[in-house]
Amino acid sequence: MRIIETADEMRAWAYARRAEGNWIGFVPTMGALHEGHASLMRASVEQNDVSVLSIFVNPTQFAPHEDYNRYPRTFEADCELAERIGIDAVYAPRVERMYPPNYATYVEVRRLTEGLCGRSRPTHFRCVTTVVTKLFHAVCPHRAYFGQKDAQQAAVIRRMTRDLDFGIEIVVLPIVREPDGLAMSSRNVYLSAEERARALCLSRGLLEAQRLLESGERRVDAIVDAVRNAMSGVQIDYIELVDADEMQPVSEIRGRVLLAVAAYVGQTRLIDNIMFDAESGIVT
Ligand code: PAF
Repeated sequence: MRIIETADEMRAWAYARRAEGNWIGFVPTMGALHEGHASLMRASVEQNDVSVLSIFVNPTQFAPHEDYNRYPRTFEADCELAERIGIDAVYAPRVERMYPPNYATYVEVRRLTEGLCGRSRPTHFRCVTTVVTKLFHAVCPHRAYFGQKDAQQAAVIRRMTRDLDFGIEIVVLPIVREPDGLAMSSRNVYLSAEERARALCLSRGLLEAQRLLESGERRVDAIVDAVRNAMSGVQIDYIELVDADEMQPVSEIRGRVLLAVAAYVGQTRLIDNIMFDAESGIVT
């Protein structure tokens, strides 16, 4: 497995693989890999000729009061896992190369980024779309893999990719959960045992919403209230039902809707969600 640090070397490697007729799958991450990332890497390895993992803790997408400095960094273990799964190259650029002096260029997706996490993290998504653009330009993938856990991020990247004609297929894979329901996240390591127990109220709230939706409940208030009741032990940032494509709040449940929650458990901000297709009645 190659470890590549510069965009030029990454692109040269990708061009050579493309010239050989290979399809390139790409899994962008900030490292601290868990089973959720592993599921993305496995899918990429299965569905493409060669696969690239990027590991880059992107400083710009963290607000000054957020956890950039203490974000878990487990590069060696991440590379071992990637190699075991069959990743061909790890792209791990340095911050100074990614953002040279006088860096001035951003990619912005409007509307979809304004609600949900965008409300409490107003500069977050433009920094995600910017770094993902730069990663795409270096890795030149045919397909890129993202997790449904960051549902808003996935919708934003899908829209950017379409609007700006990247010609990259965006594959979004289901949330991977711990046996007790907690959505896997690199930030779960911050939780004390007591906080981890309290954090379960996010997935329990969503499970209750799933039960209501599957039994035919279609009132937005009833769904949101049920989740709010389940989440009384944590500091709620938002509980919202939005349409799955535009990420806009819905007043009635039709088509594909996303029920998304964010909450602070102690100092740790966690997110989780379920997707509901009102036509088929299926929750994912
Ligand atoms: O989801 C993540 O890990 C990050 O937001 C991403 C997409 C790698 C961009 O830094």
